[in-house]
Amino acid sequence: MDGPKLVNTLPLTEECRHYEDISEVPSDIQKYWYQRYSIWEHYDYDIRMTDDAWFGVTPQPVARKIAEDLDPGVATTVIDMFAGAGGNAIAFALSEKWEHVIAIEKDPSTLACAQHNAEVYGVREHITFVLGDCFEFLALLNPPTSSPSLSTTTTARATATLNLDADPGIDPRLYLDLSKTVLFASPPWGGVSYRDQDVFDLSTMQPYNLAQIHAACRPLKHVLYLPRTSDLRQIAKLAPTNPNGDGDGGSKEKIEVVQYCMDGASKALVAYIPPSPTTSSPSQSVSSQSSHSDSSGSDVDSDSDN
Ligand SMILES: C[S@@+](CC[C@H](N)C(=O)[O-])C[C@H]1O[C@@H](n2cnc3c(N)ncnc32)[C@H](O)[C@@H]1O
Repeated sequence: MDGPKLVNTLPLTEECRHYEDISEVPSDIQKYWYQRYSIWEHYDYDIRMTDDAWFGVTPQPVARKIAEDLDPGVATTVIDMFAGAGGNAIAFALSEKWEHVIAIEKDPSTLACAQHNAEVYGVREHITFVLGDCFEFLALLNPPTSSPSLSTTTTARATATLNLDADPGIDPRLYLDLSKTVLFASPPWGGVSYRDQDVFDLSTMQPYNLAQIHAACRPLKHVLYLPRTSDLRQIAKLAPTNPNGDGDGGSKEKIEVVQYCMDGASKALVAYIPPSPTTSSPSQSVSSQSSHSDSSGSDVDSDSDN
């Protein structure tokens, strides 16, 4: 399979659907379709989704609140590693906090939906779309050295090795200063088994578990969108050590964990994880808080399957 590619507008395929009437909607998607205006305020403006995308899309009020809560600090670029139909990438672009929003998606039809939906929301030109595997993309950014730390002053010329469609030269949209880049990941959750568990074991998440995702993201600040029942202790263990902090060998940094709710029902848990400049060891330092997304007029009452 080809490596990640920066893509211009992909054609919509027959999988990119806009259901107008319940009679067209597959039975397993109907409960989501009834919530379509809570998921996409502009649904009627020809929002497109693949059938799979309905199960994992981040509802717009939640995506907007995450985009509001995510403080760029010095960062200017956010990379949405699992862009899906564009729920989060569009919200990041609409927040106007970022010079660059990069959206990576491995499924061409789903990416075509995301591009089309970004057009509907008027932010198509503010998002750089990459077709391919986000882990391969990150591997291009993270130099494969034996050094445990990533130089935060390195400007990654990711495009030097990316297979660009239109322009064989380096596309400036993919010049990334890693010290100014934040990663956002809303991975598949592997179905709805998390609902049956009081505490969801993130080591069993499919197809990528917490450790795999964290290993790929750890040199950078990263934000993980996870099932609401996720095991906080597993997240706590990702807290990096600040070598300049008090204490022997430094001090543990804090991971902020936020529950995002609509109409009082939790939709997801989001962990805001600082970069790990050096090899980190387990920690128990998590601070959590509750945050409710704007739920006015919302009728969302069922769980996401991601
Ligand atoms: C839960 S959905 C993301 C939903 C998205 N946040 C939204 O609001 O539309 C996960 C997406 O990740 C994509 N995906 C899975 N593995 C991937 C990978 N290795 N690289 C890029 N995309 C991937 C899937 O095709 C799916 O569209």
